[in-house]
Formats: sequence, C-alpha cells, structure tokens
Amino acid sequence: MTTQATTFNTDLPKQRTIPDLLAGQKALVTGANSGIGRAVAIGLARAGAEVAVNYVVGEEEANKVVAEIEAAGGRAHAIYADVSNEDDVKAMTAKAIEAMGTLDILVPNAGLQRDAAAAEMTLEQWNKVISVNLTGQFLCIREAVKEFVRRGVRADVSVAAGKIVCMSSVHEVIPWAGHINYAASKGGVHMMMQSLAQELAPQRIRVNAIGPGAIRTPINTEAWNTPEAYTDLMRLVPYKRIGEPEDIANAAVFLASDMADYITGITLFVDGGMTCYPGFATGG
Ligand code: BGC
Repeated sequence: MTTQATTFNTDLPKQRTIPDLLAGQKALVTGANSGIGRAVAIGLARAGAEVAVNYVVGEEEANKVVAEIEAAGGRAHAIYADVSNEDDVKAMTAKAIEAMGTLDILVPNAGLQRDAAAAEMTLEQWNKVISVNLTGQFLCIREAVKEFVRRGVRADVSVAAGKIVCMSSVHEVIPWAGHINYAASKGGVHMMMQSLAQELAPQRIRVNAIGPGAIRTPINTEAWNTPEAYTDLMRLVPYKRIGEPEDIANAAVFLASDMADYITGITLFVDGGMTCYPGFATGG
C-alpha cells in the first residue's frame, strides 16, 4: 500500500485531444525543456500547433522535446533564452517568429523556487524568483503582444488575435510560509494577468492563467518521491492523486483554443481541489 503511493495514478484520464484544435497556430512555451512546460509544448503540438520550445538550461532536454514532437509528425524549434534577460527575450521572440512566421499563442511558463524562511531569505533569492517568475512573464508577454497587435486576427486559424496562458500556481491565493518570494511572484502574476486581460480584450487578445496545484515535476520532488511525503501531500489534495504535467497541458490546450474564446482574465485552477480548503473537510 505504502509503496504504491508514489505510483498512484493508474486512473489518469485518457488523452482525448481534438487533433486539429490548434491547427496552423504558432506557439511559444518558455521553460519547455522539463516539467509542466515540456508537457504543455507536447500537448499544444499534439493539438496541431507548431511550437517554439524555450530553455535556459537543459538544451539537450529541449532538443528531445523537439524530437518527440517531430516524431509524432509535428513541428518544433528549441530556442535559448533566460526569460529574466530583456535582450534574450527579444532575441528569442524574433527567432520564434522568424522560424514559424508569426506567433498566436504564448505560454510564459518558466519558473523556479528559491525557498527560505523570511528572516534567512537573501536578496538574491528574492530577486531571482521575482525576476524569472514575474518579470520574465512580463518580458515575454510584451514581445508577444507586439506581434499580436502588429498582425491582428488570422481568421484562418483563430478568431482571436492572440492567446496568452500564464503559468501561475495555487499560491497566487494560498499563502505559503517559507516561500514568500514564490507566493509573491504568483500573486503578482495573477494581477498582471487580469490587468492585461482588461487592457488587451478590445484588441481581441485573451489573457488567462493556469493555477497548478501539486504536479509531479522536478520543482517539488521532495513533496512526492517517498511514500511518506506522498501520503502527507494527499492531506492537501481532496482528489487524492498528484497532478501530472499532462493535466496542465490539457488545460493549456483548452485555454489557447477558440473553445475558450469567451474566457479572458481567469485563473483556471488545476489542483485536485487544493484550493477548496481541504482542512475544512471536517470540523469548522
Ligand atoms: C509549487 C510546488 C508545490 C505546489 C503546491 C507549486 O506552485 O511550485 O512546489 O508543490 O505549488 O503547493
């Protein structure tokens, strides 16, 4: 029973992507060499999009993501950029547009944690998380929006001029002791996303976010890689399974598609109920 805990997911939903939902669309996913970004890149490609696979470390993994997409008959390109570096982001966006012709979908996903108790947190730890998770999303969004506005609606592929799916977290609303830099960055993503949605809607650009809960990725390995940790984690997850990167990819495909055309300014939590105050399942 306990050893089974880390391999709980025998009951994952079957992948039922509508194959041409994003046909002809061009997408850029940051931090796409691993974890959630990797699954999102592959998911968008499976739905028909051509994908720019950004990485900052992990060039080899990024190339593998590209190879996997190509092996399945899709098109993809690995592109380097540190998303917290303005020149890098400009160069990456230009390369993506050059390679694919234009850009229809941006998933600013690259993110990291540098955890420490508040009194011990260094300015470097604080700045690193804010500059990648929040400023990095801003820089990528700014460059993508320039292209969306310049080009306008491409009626043959989508009724919107552009779609942005920010990667947030349940920690845009759930306070997280020991992670104040991370929680602040995701709270910031939430208000940036909604303000952008308000600002860009008249130009037919939709801006939403996904708020993942506990997803099985390298960012939180110690939260799920032993039976004890997994059992402990499940106290926070009413649905009683860890999330898989594909759970997030499915939500990204939907939000990026015209099926979500009347949706802008929301965070779609994909968290097995983590934001449902599981501590109140009894008592209160
Ligand atoms: C964090 C993970 C954490 C999850 C749920 C995510 O945003 O990156 O480390 O397991 O939230 O707390």
